[in-house]
Amino acid sequence: MGMEEKVNAIIEEIKAWKADTNEELEAYRLKFISRKSIIGELFASLKDVAPEDRRQVGQLLNTVKDTAQQHFQLLIQGLEQKRDNEGMQHLKDLTLPPVPGQNGSLHPLTLTVSRIIEIFERIGFDLSDGPEIEDDWHNFSALNFPENHPAREMQDTFFIEKDPDIALRTHTSSVQVRVMENRKPPIRTLSPGRVYRNEAISARAHCMFHQIEGLYIDENVSFADLKQTMLYFAQEFFGKKTKIRLRPSFFPFTEPSAELDIYWGLESESDYRITKGTGWLEIGGCGMVDPNVLSANNIDPERYTGFAFGVGVERIAMLKFQIRDIRYFTENDIRFLQQFKTVNF
Ligand code: DAH
Repeated sequence: MGMEEKVNAIIEEIKAWKADTNEELEAYRLKFISRKSIIGELFASLKDVAPEDRRQVGQLLNTVKDTAQQHFQLLIQGLEQKRDNEGMQHLKDLTLPPVPGQNGSLHPLTLTVSRIIEIFERIGFDLSDGPEIEDDWHNFSALNFPENHPAREMQDTFFIEKDPDIALRTHTSSVQVRVMENRKPPIRTLSPGRVYRNEAISARAHCMFHQIEGLYIDENVSFADLKQTMLYFAQEFFGKKTKIRLRPSFFPFTEPSAELDIYWGLESESDYRITKGTGWLEIGGCGMVDPNVLSANNIDPERYTGFAFGVGVERIAMLKFQIRDIRYFTENDIRFLQQFKTVNF
C-alpha cells in the first residue's frame, strides 16, 4: 500500500473513533498519539524513505499527526462534556490530559503599524501622538486650511461642538502641529493613530480608520529626501522590487504636494481589478511642509524646510494581506483574526 493510502486509512480510522469512557480514550492515545503509536512508527520509518520523497511524505505524516491531535482534543472535550452533563463535575477525572489553551494573535493593523514603525526607527524617526478629539486649530487652521475654504470639505468631519469647533480628528496631520508646538527642529517623527470621517461605510471606506503621519524638519531637507524616504519605506515593507510614483496633488499644508502610489503589478486578473487597470495603487499623500505651516508654528521658514507624509494603515494592510473588505478589521470575527497568528514580517 502506498504511503498516501496508508495515511488516508489511518485518518478514516481516527475520524470514526468514539470515546465514551476513559479506557476508550486511552486506547486511542496508545494507538495514535503515543510514541509507539502507528503514527509514531511511520515517523520512525521516515529515514528509510528515498531522500527526494522525504519532504512530501513528511508533510503527509504531519497532516495525519495533526488530525490525530485534533481528534484527541475533541474526544477529551466530549468526555468532559458528558461528565458535566451527568452532573458529576466534582468527580472530574484529574488524570485526563489538559485541553491546551488557545493562543491569541496580534491584530493585522497592529502588525502593520509595528512593522512600519520598525522601518522608520531605523532611519532615525521617533514616535509621537496626539488626541483623537481635536480643536479646529490643530486639525485645520494651523495646517493652512483657510476658514470657510472648500479644502475643509475634502474631509467630512464629525463635529462634537460648534463655535469653537471641536471635532474628531480627520487625519493624523494634527499631530504635526502638536509636535511643532512642543519641539524645535531637527524633528523626525512618526505619529500613528486613529482618525474619523463622516463617510458611508463600504468595502473600501470606513468612518474610522488609521493613519501614520511622518514629519521631518531640518535645514536643507529637500524633495529628493522625501522621495528617497518613501522609496525606502515601500521597498522595506512591500519588497525590494517595489516601485513608487509621486503624482502631483493638493493639500493645504504641503507645497508641492503629491499622492504616493506603489506599483502593484498587472499580472493577474485581480491585479487589474484592485488597481483599476493601471497597475498603480495609492497609499497616501505627502509633500514639502508649506512655509505657512512652519510660520504658524513658530518655526523659521527661511532657515528650515521639511517634508511630511500620511499613509492609510488599512489600505496598506489590505494590500499586504490581500484583504478584500475594510469592515473585517472591526468585526472581531475570530476566523478572520486567527489567520494572522503566523504572520512574521
Ligand atoms: N492628511 C492627509 C489626508 O488625510 C494625508 C497627507 C497628505 C498627510 C500630505 C501629509 C501630507 O502629511 O504631507 O488626506
